[in-house]
Amino acid sequence: MAKLLFEWDYSSYPGAQRYPNLFKPIQIGNLMIPNRIKYAATEDNFNDHQGFVTDADVAYMRARAEGVVGGLCFMQGVYMDPACKGQGYVGQAGAWDDRYIPGLKRLAEAIHGERAVAGFQLMDCGRVGAVEVESGHGPSTVPQRLRVFKPMFEMTHAEVKEMIQQHVEAAIRGVKAGFDIIEISGIVGYLISNFLSSYTNRRTDEYGGDIRGRSQAMIEIIQGVKAAVGPDIPLGIRLCSEELLNDVRGNTPEESMMTYKFAEEAGADYISCTLGWQESIFPVISRDIPQGNWLYLAKRAKENVKIPVQMAYRIFLPHFPDGAIAKGELDIWEICRSMIADPLMPKKVAEGREDEIRHCVACNLCLARLFRDAPMTCYINPLCAHEHDPRFYPQPVKEEDKKKVMIVGAGPSGLECAYVAAQRGHEVHVYDKRNELGGTILEASKAPYGDDELMTCINYQQTLCNKFGVQFHLGTEVTDEMISDELPDAVVLATGPVYSRLTGKVAEGAKVVNILEVMAGKVEVGENVIVYGNRKPGIGCALHLSKQGKKVTLVGKEKSAGFDVNPSFKWRYMIYLRQHGIMAYNDCDLEEVNAGEVIVKTYDGYRFPLKCDTIILSERQANESLKKSVLAEGIEHFVIGDALVPRNLSSAVHDGYRVGLRI
Ligand SMILES: Cc1cc2nc3c(=O)[nH]c(=O)nc-3n(C[C@H](O)[C@H](O)[C@H](O)COP(=O)(O)O)c2cc1C
Ligand code: SF4
Repeated sequence: MAKLLFEWDYSSYPGAQRYPNLFKPIQIGNLMIPNRIKYAATEDNFNDHQGFVTDADVAYMRARAEGVVGGLCFMQGVYMDPACKGQGYVGQAGAWDDRYIPGLKRLAEAIHGERAVAGFQLMDCGRVGAVEVESGHGPSTVPQRLRVFKPMFEMTHAEVKEMIQQHVEAAIRGVKAGFDIIEISGIVGYLISNFLSSYTNRRTDEYGGDIRGRSQAMIEIIQGVKAAVGPDIPLGIRLCSEELLNDVRGNTPEESMMTYKFAEEAGADYISCTLGWQESIFPVISRDIPQGNWLYLAKRAKENVKIPVQMAYRIFLPHFPDGAIAKGELDIWEICRSMIADPLMPKKVAEGREDEIRHCVACNLCLARLFRDAPMTCYINPLCAHEHDPRFYPQPVKEEDKKKVMIVGAGPSGLECAYVAAQRGHEVHVYDKRNELGGTILEASKAPYGDDELMTCINYQQTLCNKFGVQFHLGTEVTDEMISDELPDAVVLATGPVYSRLTGKVAEGAKVVNILEVMAGKVEVGENVIVYGNRKPGIGCALHLSKQGKKVTLVGKEKSAGFDVNPSFKWRYMIYLRQHGIMAYNDCDLEEVNAGEVIVKTYDGYRFPLKCDTIILSERQANESLKKSVLAEGIEHFVIGDALVPRNLSSAVHDGYRVGLRI
């Protein structure tokens, strides 16, 4: 009989009624998993540079373990070689020596403390590795496509054997540390996938050749680990279902499905269905990919193997996996970024608190930071990376310290600050001249390629504001007099930015409009449009108008368009700008606006005309309004979000949260 580690009864959970398929048990190997939820392995760069587990990582994992309500919770992939060629991240956990076992044990205990199933992942990063050394290892010497990665050199036959043994020994350490289930990561260009792929494996020995030969290393690892850990520890593997590497002659989908079958035959107890490579030119998880887009690949995997199939990849809402499981097209819902953004996401689903979920906005900042050797943080979750630090949790205020707080602005910074301050016990009033919550996100969310998902942040904040008793005064413009009359104990100015005017000569009758009016559809624009400002808001507006058939040009002062967007998402915008024929003149200003044309001036003084009938202002400045009167009244005050320095949704949320903690 399969072993059940912890008893869970979901019959009283509202989410289990709504999504019955997610809360059914499933057997994996000889282990019974109480539900169909898995926190997928996530590097976080929180560990020390020698690979030893830190307090930050333990606290981070404990929070995710609570989130899976009894399901699978995987720690990040560990590297396994003392030469550190397999280490892909400066803070990646190591497991190449018994010295690592005590730290790993802390992680397994933290996961068990939440009565979840502890998963241990083996991940030699292969082509994505060698972060701290000069060169990495792989099946063959194939030049890197991305400059950020180190050169790779072909492993000798003996080194391949040694690498297989390292997997086996690391798996044993994982079991000694107390983990219940082992997984091999063969995704996105890491070592196992390098062996499997015709792009990177050009070997002529038993570890190369046709797809069977290229699968040999994987097969030996699965067989070796299975034999070493015994029948009670299930073993799974994450494998590409589509490499999306056609342009460099990567595996065909048929070959990928053969790797699934070989893994099953070798003894794998489940397959995690993944897709894409770091080196692929196709996006798979950015916001422009519709949610649920890839579920058909899990279905295809199920048609090829009998063992359970798990899958993540933009499956952010529970109805997708619930429906797929019902149809027999998936077995387990894997979640990564949605639980970086909100560690309790599936728990809230179970408890019927979906409106309290802080949704991931698929910006990929978390990934971008890993590749810049920085600890992972989240665009939308200010607590991420600080789970171990008590200063980052809202602390109740003493009765005598309770304040009446006036927050001016119901955008993301104001709302974030409002619920945090209210949660701590302050009396919080939010004012906004508009009748709606959301500030400039109301307009930003009109941009194409998934930006409507930005509103999930506002919806979450609204729910929490209501929960903690924030009082709203909408349709009310705060004036200096109001502040003097109300005399609150603290004022938070979350008024949003001021839009910069043009400094050059503007001819009479020239049509100059504001980006917010354009995005809200309140003004008509002509056929030849110039968006002034080459940051994210300008790009969003340009793409929005281009989709309406307008000819759009970007002119802005930043050195590159979208310089405020993280590199793991910016490349998407660059492609869309090209596809839409949108030219970006960067490091430039508008010197003159005449009837039907503008004069653009480059940073080195070169001038040229551009045809144009409408100019849209998207450049922003800090907002100084109301500051004088709060200073004059001597009221404790804070300026947050774009009112302080125009930036992005992330800065607004983080500013609001931190000030909410301090008031
Ligand atoms: C920051 C970050 C770190 C990741 N680290 C790992 C890892 O250690 N091992 C692994 O197999 N996959 C890793 N992944 C891939 C995820 O487990 C997951 O498959 C992918 O993010 C798609 O799922 P999602 O759309 O739910 O985020 C990582 C992803 C992210 C965003
Ligand atoms: S950083 Fe962005 S992609 Fe990563 S979890 Fe947070 S919101 Fe999602």
